[in-house]
Amino acid sequence: MNCVNIAVFVSGGGTNLQALLDAQAAGKLTSGKISLVISSQPGAYALQRAANAGVPGHVVSRKETGSQTAFEAGIQALLEEYHIDLIILAGFMSILSEGFTSRWPERILNVHPSLIPSFCGKGMYGLKVHEAALEKGVKVTGATVHFVNEIPDGGRILLQKAVEIQPDDTPETLQLRVMQQAEWLLLPQAAQQVSANILKEKEQNHD
Ligand code: GAR
Repeated sequence: MNCVNIAVFVSGGGTNLQALLDAQAAGKLTSGKISLVISSQPGAYALQRAANAGVPGHVVSRKETGSQTAFEAGIQALLEEYHIDLIILAGFMSILSEGFTSRWPERILNVHPSLIPSFCGKGMYGLKVHEAALEKGVKVTGATVHFVNEIPDGGRILLQKAVEIQPDDTPETLQLRVMQQAEWLLLPQAAQQVSANILKEKEQNHD
């Protein structure tokens, strides 16, 4: 194996997926290959981004599968079919159970739009995170890339970047600045870093 197969899980617009695809096209993701995109939402624009880049996209919806067990079994089957080594949650809005996350220890990455441990945990996602930061009146926020475990936003932190809040910010302007100045830079960097480590581990195991 000389490349780590990456699956990106999405639910919406997929700008973080786009950042990963762009990094790959620019030769900045040399240790990993985006091999699969899974969307929890039929019709998510992220699926179009995957198609544009020639990456297979599949929908696995919690609602349509009927139960958490069936939902995760559907995901797991795709991960095996595509020989996936690393999962990246990029705006994935469905919950993954401990049964699932424990099968992928330090093999699932997530990007969260705040400086964890601020404004994170259950119910804190998307615009809500930025609304909470503005409500609290913090002057600095940012983004975090971390490993995923059974605790929401509780896994080991890999990378963080701070972003200043402007006096006239709305949740929408802040969300965009955090993406532009932090998320879209950190996520490809983390993907490369973790992929390189996985490759190194595999090589050592073969020695
Ligand atoms: C991103 O800001 C991401 O950090 C956030 O959702 C947005 C998805 O945008 N994720 C979370 O809040 C997870 N807790 P995208 O679909 O354009 O990448």
